[in-house]
Amino acid sequence: ATIHDQKLHRGAGGELHQFAEDGMPVLTTAQGGPVSDDQNTLRVGARGPALIDDFHFREKIFHFDHERIPERVVHARGYGAHGYFETYESLAAYTRADLFQRPGEKTPAFVRFSTVAGSKGSFDLARDVRGFAVKIYTQQGNWDLVGNNIPVFFIQDAIKFPDVIHSVKPEPDRQFPQAQSAHDNFWDFITLTPESMHMVMWVMSDRAIPRSFRFMEGFGVHTFRFVNAADESTFVKFHWKPKLGLQSVAWNEAVKINGADPDFHRRDLWQAIQSGNFPEWELCVQLFDQDFADTFDFDILDPTKIIPEEILPVKPIGRLVLDRMPENFFAETEQVAFMTQNVPPGIDFSNDPLLQGRNFSYLDTQLKRLGGPNFTHLPINAPKCPFHNFQQDGHMAMRNPVGRVNYQPNSWNQGPRESPVQGYRHFPAEEQGPKVRLRPESFADHYSQARQFYISQTPPEQRHIAAALIFELSKVETPVIRERMVSHLLNIDETLASKVGHALGFKSMPNPADAAMPTRQDLEPSPALSIVER
Ligand code: HEM
Repeated sequence: ATIHDQKLHRGAGGELHQFAEDGMPVLTTAQGGPVSDDQNTLRVGARGPALIDDFHFREKIFHFDHERIPERVVHARGYGAHGYFETYESLAAYTRADLFQRPGEKTPAFVRFSTVAGSKGSFDLARDVRGFAVKIYTQQGNWDLVGNNIPVFFIQDAIKFPDVIHSVKPEPDRQFPQAQSAHDNFWDFITLTPESMHMVMWVMSDRAIPRSFRFMEGFGVHTFRFVNAADESTFVKFHWKPKLGLQSVAWNEAVKINGADPDFHRRDLWQAIQSGNFPEWELCVQLFDQDFADTFDFDILDPTKIIPEEILPVKPIGRLVLDRMPENFFAETEQVAFMTQNVPPGIDFSNDPLLQGRNFSYLDTQLKRLGGPNFTHLPINAPKCPFHNFQQDGHMAMRNPVGRVNYQPNSWNQGPRESPVQGYRHFPAEEQGPKVRLRPESFADHYSQARQFYISQTPPEQRHIAAALIFELSKVETPVIRERMVSHLLNIDETLASKVGHALGFKSMPNPADAAMPTRQDLEPSPALSIVER
């Protein structure tokens, strides 16, 4: 046999495997063409001009030029892992969701943890909320529980989301500060938006600097519904409880870690899973009905409120184990698309106005981020159950309806059919009322749970909250914004307020903020804050 013969091998399917002289597979273009030289562009003579004939060079640079896709508009920096969800017991009494029917059944899952405000290249130990997004590939389609490690949110209505995010991200003219909350714009918005006070207390607490993803809780935040086979609804709040317990770092540790190892959290998750030390969380629920909801003086549709676990203990219903790292960070962690609207039959939404807005936002943003309507064709986003529909074509289409029929009804007795029995039925909640833009009165108390949270902390944790507020507000350059924050703190805890006011050098304390919901007039910016003056 010639040398040439030894370097070729035909596979069972007739495919040609080509090997380089050292026995490694031959480098090819994306079209499969073998490459002879990957070190030098094609030129006229060794020292001459480059030639446009060089299709290998052009393809290589073209592909490199387009390696970046838009980072997520929020939660840009994240790290994911594969695993499974295991059901503890049948929840048929509450939900017809297939994954909750059979004890011991395991369903594949993918989780992406993230920071919210920083860019993709930012550091892991930022003082920030952490995303805790879970995709469970159920036999009735993907269920995405797109949560955070903090059980409440800054705003009550999704229409304020662009504002809160703009205020926390770097300013449009100077593009700093990168540091999450140490930021005039952020504190300006927050202090003009008293509904954020509960969340702000969590963000100033140790919860916002977790020791690792493995020591974090997760929360679905909103009230959802379970719906059973008889179409009866039970309200449900979802909680993830880490088996390792909760741990955070202290601020001075976080600052050092960010400098020494900005990848601290992703390295921790990678090393734990690669060494067989699989992190685990229990999925817990708080289940309640409308009568129980009516006993609260807050509204269960208000995402700035929790239902205290002392009043309604959480019930563990299953566990999530992460046991495999992605092989391809970009294909999996970067291109995974979570969306709150992905729910299987048996799980439904409440009227929480933040949740309702999210149900629009995720699909919309992913259409752009992932380059077209076919991102469910990517393996990380595709369901792992059989699926059939008449969607076709579009950028990057990997599959189309098979055969002649791509519509229904049709006379060819082909293609999938809708099923009122098997299919998703929305819970037929009774709705009525005038069409208005109005915040309900039941959403008006912005301080009680902020106070409850602060009081529930141990003395060292309370000291950390005070220190965080003092540090963050000391970076705020505009005096009236600092004062406004302290005036809110007076409604939360007077000792905390005076500690912060004193440390900021206040000669006298401001009046407590008006506890009433701000009206449009209250929100008029004061002239002292005009951009010119800054
Ligand atoms: C991304 C959680 C509110 C819009 C994310 C991610 C999480 C998350 C965990 C990252 C998903 C991933 O890892 O790929 C939450 C929570 C919220 C909340 C817990 C409140 C309770 C909102 C609201 C909006 C919104 C109100 C808009 C109205 C987005 C967008 C992304 C995102 C556009 C980027 C998605 C992507 O590009 O794939 N959110 N979010 N979020 N969220 Fe939210």
